[in-house]
Amino acid sequence: MGRRYYSQHSLRRIPRHPVLRFLLILLFIWDTLHILGIHWAQTASRQSPPPPRNTRRIYIATQHWNTARLLRDRWNDALVALVKELGAENVYVAIYESGSYDDTKGALRELDTALGQLEVKRHIVLSDVSHKDEITKQPTDHGWVKTPSGETALRRIPFLANLRNQLLDTLQELHSQGHEFDNILFLNDVVFTPEDVLRLINTNGGDYAAACSLDFSNLPHFYDTFALRDSQGHEAVMQTWPYFRSYTSRYATEHFLPVPVTSCWNGMVAMPVAPFLSKTPLRFRGIPDSLGEYHLEGSECCLIHADNPLSPVNGVFLNPVVRVGYNGTIFDTLHSQYEVLSMLDIWKGVWKNRVLRWATTPVFKEWVVRRRVQKWRQNHAPEDEPGGFCLINEMQVLYEKGWRHV
Ligand SMILES: *[C@@H]1O[C@H](CO)[C@@H](O)[C@H](O)[C@H]1NC(C)=O
Repeated sequence: MGRRYYSQHSLRRIPRHPVLRFLLILLFIWDTLHILGIHWAQTASRQSPPPPRNTRRIYIATQHWNTARLLRDRWNDALVALVKELGAENVYVAIYESGSYDDTKGALRELDTALGQLEVKRHIVLSDVSHKDEITKQPTDHGWVKTPSGETALRRIPFLANLRNQLLDTLQELHSQGHEFDNILFLNDVVFTPEDVLRLINTNGGDYAAACSLDFSNLPHFYDTFALRDSQGHEAVMQTWPYFRSYTSRYATEHFLPVPVTSCWNGMVAMPVAPFLSKTPLRFRGIPDSLGEYHLEGSECCLIHADNPLSPVNGVFLNPVVRVGYNGTIFDTLHSQYEVLSMLDIWKGVWKNRVLRWATTPVFKEWVVRRRVQKWRQNHAPEDEPGGFCLINEMQVLYEKGWRHV
């Protein structure tokens, strides 16, 4: 009897309340139209014509560490196919490898041979300097930090920034010899197709300060949260579609359009070369060591957008239809199982995103960071950090076999 009373009671109360009933129906209709709209946008995006052939001169910059398996499995072939698609005469390939303890060097030598047969201009550095060599050096006044336990350790980010900058030095040298390029294409250790790169280069009609792909390692979650910030500078609210908190970034994602973001570095990135060759050339960097002491860190791949004078002019875009994976299995699964979002996937994603946005706030996390930056500024004026939105509450240092949080 009791159960019956309750069910009748609740059935009678909610739908019979005319205003509430009207609002619920309205919400249902609006939500259904919203989801249908997204589904149509996805269909339209999938029927869009293939990207145009390449007409640009492209400097391909890439860095490898312990990637022998990926290189032999997919990457070397992907790069050769890419060079053929872009035109061997339009590209320059710069590769920097150091300290791998698998056979990355051997795999890169195989690539060197293959590129040689295509007469591709290239510069491949295979360095024997290992992490161990780096961390046992005498600490200098740049790139080292005192950890909470009191030891002085080599910071991961300035170390990586240095490696990336070596690739830019080669670009600068070529420029001084009269070799010009339109774009620089940074490739991570990801699986990609030539068409992915063509689409990336053509993001937003080719007009951008930077255009990034979206990277996957643990499906269906995207990988690089460290460098991705939405149009308002917030971290992604979720690692699955539609990812973003800010309206602008979310709207574009849901319509499969280039997504305006403040920073991204998810697998592949295309940028105009001009800022890297200007009078005050753009370079990768870490945050100052003195700021790092406050237990803060920011990715060199986020700070580069904060420093790039073109970012506010031309915009940084994530291209959500260019999706790459960190190995062959992930890439293949991504492009079979996860190729198309069903209506149910869309509904789930949209609602999960809403609930997370309503139930969580980045305010406290960002406040902790801001307060530390303020304290640092008081003690280190006039130094400043323009990449505030890149910062997170972490300290990352190198060790012999990789890197770790402290
Ligand atoms: C690819 O990565 C996934 C997840 O890290 C792993 O489970 C899988 O075995 C890897 N596959 C290959 C071919 O390395």
